[in-house]
Parts: sequence; C-alpha cells; structure tokens
Amino acid sequence: MTVKDMDKNAHTPHMPPTELMDSEHSSVFSRYFRKKCPDELIRTANKCQLNKTLNAFDLIVLGIGAVIGAGIFALAGTAAVGSSGHVGAGPALIVSLIFAALACSFSALCYAEFASMIPVAGSAFTYTYATLGEIAAWFIGWMLVLEYLIGNITVVSSWSGYLMNFLAGFKGVLPDFLTSPPLWLVNNYSLAVEKYRKVSISDFTTLLESKYQALGLDASRIKELFDPSNFNPSMFNPAAIDSLGFNSNLLLHPETHIPHLGPIPLCIDLPAIIFLGFITYLLFVGIKESTRFTFAMVLTKLLVIFLFIGVGMFYVRPENWVPFAPNGFKGIFVGAYLIFFAYIGFDAVSTAAEETKNPQRDMPIGIIGSLVICTLIYIAVVAVLTGIIPLNQIDTHAPIAAAMTSINQNWVAFLISIGAIAGLGSVLVVLQLGGTRVLYAMSRDKLLPGAFSKVHPKFKTPHLNAILVGVGVMFGTLILDLNAAAELCNIGTLTAFMLVCAGVRVLRKTDPTRERPFKTPWVPVVPILGILTCLALIVLGLPTIKTLVIFGIWITIGMTLYFVYGHKKATKHINKTREEQKIAANN
Ligand code: ALA
Repeated sequence: MTVKDMDKNAHTPHMPPTELMDSEHSSVFSRYFRKKCPDELIRTANKCQLNKTLNAFDLIVLGIGAVIGAGIFALAGTAAVGSSGHVGAGPALIVSLIFAALACSFSALCYAEFASMIPVAGSAFTYTYATLGEIAAWFIGWMLVLEYLIGNITVVSSWSGYLMNFLAGFKGVLPDFLTSPPLWLVNNYSLAVEKYRKVSISDFTTLLESKYQALGLDASRIKELFDPSNFNPSMFNPAAIDSLGFNSNLLLHPETHIPHLGPIPLCIDLPAIIFLGFITYLLFVGIKESTRFTFAMVLTKLLVIFLFIGVGMFYVRPENWVPFAPNGFKGIFVGAYLIFFAYIGFDAVSTAAEETKNPQRDMPIGIIGSLVICTLIYIAVVAVLTGIIPLNQIDTHAPIAAAMTSINQNWVAFLISIGAIAGLGSVLVVLQLGGTRVLYAMSRDKLLPGAFSKVHPKFKTPHLNAILVGVGVMFGTLILDLNAAAELCNIGTLTAFMLVCAGVRVLRKTDPTRERPFKTPWVPVVPILGILTCLALIVLGLPTIKTLVIFGIWITIGMTLYFVYGHKKATKHINKTREEQKIAANN
C-alpha cells in the first residue's frame, strides 16, 4: 500500500446525506446518533478499486511494522525502573506485558469483527460512525487524534534519544557539538532536568569517592547510596556539599544548567524537531511507502532486537531478577499501563482490510498473529534487559542500546541504535500519516472545517493536515516528555478500544442479521472482558492524576467543539443537500 493510495482512499466522494440513516423528521436528540449505513460504506469502498494483494503474512508484517517502536525501545526502561512520578515494575514487567497483551487481544478480536464486516479504510472512526452514530464517532475520532498526535511525541523523543546514542559513538571523530551537545538542546525541559540531575549526582559521587579514597576510607557503597532513581533532596546538605568544593545548586536545582530567556527555559529537542520537519515534508509531497519498504524496516527492527537478545542472554545474571516485583502489584499495573504503548498500532492492520485477498480469514490471523509475536519478542527483551544490569542502572531514554554499552558491547549498541533510528522512523511515518487521515475523514464527513479535507492540487495529499499535525507534534515535544506523552496517548487509546468493544456488542443487538465474515468468539464475554481489562489498566495502572486531568480537558474541548461546531455543520450540510435533492427531483 502506498501513502498516495491511502490518500486516494481517504478521498472517496463524500457520502450524500441520504446515505446517513437519518431523516428530516428525526428528533434533535436522535440526530446525535445518526449513523452511516455499513452497506453504503462497503459499496463506496468497492468502487474504490484498491488492489487486493495482501495476505495473512503481509498483515503480520504490517502489524509488527506499526507496533514495535518506542514502547520497547524506550518506555520499557521507565516502566521497569520507575521515575520521579511513579513506581516501576522491575523484572515483573514481563507480567505487565502479558496483562497489556491480554487487554489488546480482547479488543483485537472485536476490531477483527468490524474489520472483516466493514472492510473499509478509516478504522475505529468509520466503524463507530456505522454502529454507534455520529457523537460516538466524533468522540473516537477525537481520541484517535490524541493517540496519533501525542503518541508521536513519545516516538520522536525516543528517536532523538537513539540518534544521540548513535552520534555519541563517534566521539573524537565527529565534532563535539554532534557527539555531546548541551543536554538542553537535545531534550525537552523535564528530561533535561532529569539528565542534568543524573550528571550532577554522578559528578558529586565521583568527587566523594575520591575524597574517601584519599582518606583511606571504604568508598564502595557511595554510588549505591546516592542512587539517581531514588533522588531525595533531603539527603543532601547544601552547605556541606559546597564545603567539599561542589556547587550544591547544580545538584539540587539542576534547572540552573539550562539557559533562560527571562522566566522561559530555553530547552528544545532540536533533533526531534528537525526530523518532524522532514517527515512533514514527506507527507506533504506524498511519499510512496511500499510494502517492500515496510518489510525492510520490520526486518531491520527485528534483526537488532534479536541481536540484543542473542548477545544479551550471555550476560544475564539471575540475581538481577531478584526481587522480581520490587513494587508488588502496583508496580505491575503501572508497568502494564505504560507498556501498553508498545502494542499501539496493531489496529493499523484492520485499516488494510480493503486490500486483503481474504479478509475473512486473514484479518484475525494478521491482528492476533502480530500481537502474539510482539508479546513473545517483548518478553524476551525485558527478561534480558532486566537480567544484564541492576535495575537502578537501566537507562530510561534509550535503554536497549545503553544496556549493551554498559556491558561493553559498544558495537552491538551501535547497531541497535541504527536499527532503532530506522524502526522508530517508520513508526513515526505510520502514526503521523494516521493523524492526517483521521482529521481528513472527520472533515470529509463535515464534522471539521473543509480545510482539513483539502487535497494539494499537485501532490494529491491532505497537505494542510500534514503541516498541522507536524507543527502540533513539534509544539508538543516542547511541553511533554516521552513518558507523559505515552501516559496521555494510552488513556485515549484505551478509551477508543473500550468503545470498539461496546460497538461489537451493540451491533450484534441492533443489526443481528448482517453478514459477519469473522465473528468475535463468545460475545458478549469477549467484548465485556475487553472493556474490563482496558478499564483495569486505567484504574489500577494510571501513574499520575495529572494525566487524567489533561485527558478530561481534552474531552471537554472536543465535546464543546462537537456541540458548538461539528454537529451543527454536519446538520447544515445534510439539510442543504436534502434541499438540493428535492429541487433536483422536482425538476
Ligand atoms: N507501538 C508503537 C511504539 O511502541 C506506537 O512506538
């Protein structure tokens, strides 16, 4: 499939209002629930003539291509270690992975029923428009915008982390500004503060060690005592630190490292911004992302991951797995909530239903197959990662490469960085493209301004969306770090999954006779389990209340937009077309 194909597909003619299951006499309330007719969606899709070339294997490749990314390459570190805002799962992240995969599997089975029943591009937004109606479709569309926009902040920040890791390997060969640039120029604010703190703690403990050794004292426990992951300012006495000849300000207020313009800290992840600019350009002119290209990217990702597992397993020290769950169930659930990000993207498989030779058989194989393979790979990665170095030494920005560096396998770290840069780049393209398409579909359905469905006359791409999404993510990197962004992205995606599960159940009731080439097994048990497991991930695992508050604000903005603008615009458009049809009929 090519990006242009996707755009072409997204550009199917707008469905006239008669195809919405709404009538002139519908009540105001029922208009919020007007639906698109699934038959019409399918007919429109059939007119669209996309080549039906994909088989189950291609779908699995597509799934793995969209799924393996920042979740395992970056978030696995924080999910295992924890951060200043939440506890970590420790080696028990393996259990978290299984729980998150379980929640995804139930939702995946529901996705598969929709994907085979309404095999058209558009994913959850389209399914919901056809089943639960306009207001739910808007809500899901709004969640998908959150998923793609905010999720990309995580992916691009992690991409930048691996790029820095890669460039650091050229110390002495490349200029210093490339191999060790100031941290405030390659991280956003919170990450820069965290890293400056780590650097300061390391400098301080090195100084302490040398002082102890000069006095003939045992310095072996100093590093352990001042563990950066358990930073507690009350352990440090500023006057005592200063008296040792160390500027306590740098340690206790690491933000003093960062230049300020008045009250504004000048902190920017420049590599991420530049790369986003590049992707935006590609989406503007319409790249041709062939299946072959996706395949090459998937292969690269898998090769470096297998390299990590293959080399790392010889360095595993089982004592590092003890304690297995240092923070008990809380740590496991928080880990599951965070690592859920690593599975996001499997729903991309369902969007390829139109191009699948035998969607009835291959869709479920593709979706579930990619989930199972990814889960097995993730478990192996986490087992090795937590097995080769003690928990408090796991890096939280580029853990996989850094773990190899810490066991002196610099060449493996180097290769992993190359693979991660390529792999994360491909995930970024898929998600960035997804963002432009959701906005496109919502605008095509008259729920958003027409500008969002404008197509560039020469490139035939929704170019304005490409710019909007690109600039939106760039701006996002300034305010959210990769963990905060993943937390926010996950809550939106989990909510969308719950609605898809509910949609399956609802449609079985409201439209029981519709042909379902793939039927979700054990309905309503599976959809209910899907809803419950997604809900459990949020309720038991959401690390910070701040995320819930931002999510609430996001929903409020979205629903206000819908009532003030989207619904009214769609209604006006329907009425106008109905009038035109009446006039045409009378003539
Ligand atoms: N699952 C994708 C990732 O981990 C979004 O980057």
